[in-house]
Amino acid sequence: MSTTGQSHQEEMQALRELYDKVGLRGYWDMDRRTGGPAPIQPKIWRWRDIYPALQRAAAIVRLGEDTFRRANGMNTGSRTITAGFQYVAPGETAAAHRHTASALRFVVQGHGGYTTSDGEQMIMEPGDLLTQPNWTWHDHSNFSNEPMIWLDGLDAGLVRYLEANFHENWTEGEMQPVIKPLGDSQQRLTPVRSPSFGKVTRRAPYHYRWSDTLRALNAAAGSEAAARDASPYDGYILEYTDPISGGHTFVTISCRIQMLLPGQTTRFHRHTSTTIYHGVAGAGMIRIDKENPVELSWGEKDTFILPPWRWHQHCNTSATQPAILFSESDLPVLEALDLYREDGD
Ligand SMILES: [Fe+2]
Ligand SMILES: [Fe+2]
Repeated sequence: MSTTGQSHQEEMQALRELYDKVGLRGYWDMDRRTGGPAPIQPKIWRWRDIYPALQRAAAIVRLGEDTFRRANGMNTGSRTITAGFQYVAPGETAAAHRHTASALRFVVQGHGGYTTSDGEQMIMEPGDLLTQPNWTWHDHSNFSNEPMIWLDGLDAGLVRYLEANFHENWTEGEMQPVIKPLGDSQQRLTPVRSPSFGKVTRRAPYHYRWSDTLRALNAAAGSEAAARDASPYDGYILEYTDPISGGHTFVTISCRIQMLLPGQTTRFHRHTSTTIYHGVAGAGMIRIDKENPVELSWGEKDTFILPPWRWHQHCNTSATQPAILFSESDLPVLEALDLYREDGD
């Protein structure tokens, strides 16, 4: 019996060697619980730690010599969406380029710097969201007297995973020419627009101004009709919809803004999408998991990640002030692949 067992083991070993040689693998020979990427963990990046680090990098890393943009990625563990802070010091420019990864810029600090997207200057103010869908030309300039800092979000993890990452630099000088008037995309993509504009199918860069976003958010929190639309899991939550399709912000990323009323605590839910949050106003706490929960208390400009399929609830920890969160998530990817699941109390 032992001889037979021994010879079977020898046969298995020989088979393993043959499989190695021809490039096959036997699923009977693998532990499916190991070998995958490490699960994403809840994590918070506090502005009080991040800001001095960004300032240090700005003093050491030279734009134009060391790098074409001063991007500071956060180690989130997400394989789909990335987050980081970009810092453009007064007088600096980041050279024009485009790539197949789509990008969002949520302005954290500074006034008057601008991004040019497909020939249109967009002047950045705190709370503004600028989108640059797949293959949009973009460059950044800061001619104000204070640093411009924004949260960068890209679908670069997914694009790299699919090996579909293409990048091209603008070759006729450092910056692309400005060929459109200020406010062009907002004017052209408003719901009441010139019929000569026709049916647009390609996604276009867009500038969602904070003043408009805040107005919409206050209207949502202040009207009875909108209150009926409030989510038991997210409070008053709005999506930055793509102005052309009316769908998610990007094919791959959904950007949202949400308000929790003073003292509000939401119900628990969980979903297969991963969300990266950024504190815009007020203070709150996200409780992740029902048993032995991880509680991340956040304030303005703090950023944190919620891993997929973890129970969570939001709390506004102030009894007097609303709490506002910006977020980016890979929800559209999960939906497109028919992998989105949600479960709620
Ligand atoms: Fe870029
Ligand atoms: Fe959620």
